Amino acid sequence: MQWWLQGFVWVLPAYVANMAPVFAAGLKTPLAKPIDGGAKAADGRRWLGNGKTWQGFAAAVLAGTTTGYLMSFFGLGSVYIGALLGFWAIFGDMVGSFAKRRLGMPRGANAGLLDRIDFITFALVAAVPFYPWELRQLLLVLIATPLLHRAANIIGYALKLKDVPW
Ligand code: CTP
Ligand code: MG
Repeated sequence: MQWWLQGFVWVLPAYVANMAPVFAAGLKTPLAKPIDGGAKAADGRRWLGNGKTWQGFAAAVLAGTTTGYLMSFFGLGSVYIGALLGFWAIFGDMVGSFAKRRLGMPRGANAGLLDRIDFITFALVAAVPFYPWELRQLLLVLIATPLLHRAANIIGYALKLKDVPW
């Protein structure tokens, strides 16, 4: 495989996992409750906010796991790596929301680069031990992800999956 494509394939479960909560958002399962339980931090703002639900968390880990499973048929990735990347991607997404709330930004606010790199930063660190990464591959994924994220969100907005194009 081309060196520039390889890194994206390795972290594919993280991309799928990060998109999964948006598709799951319409489901309204019993898990569609905020992870922070509505609780507020000492600054009076929510720990994470209503945009971070158990449903989205479960959807992300499930989507990452499924992606890893499907990839294993092609000699790429594994169920385990898929689950791990799904977990760390959505954990990174939560860290991003935590930071946004601390900065006083309401749920859904446009945090620019933070919204676009939080999940991939954590997923990349988790993926490092599993593959023979070259520095240029890590940097390319890190630099291209905000652009891919932006494009995916514009499409998601056009398809009415998302309320905002960021
Ligand atoms: N989502 C979810 N649970 C998660 C992550 C995302 O239910 N753990 C769903 C929510 O419906 C959320 C949507 O996916 O609104 C888009 O995710 P994101 O853009 O990360 O959340 P925001 O609503 O923008 O909230 P925040 O400002 O905290 O990023
Ligand atoms: Mg958002």
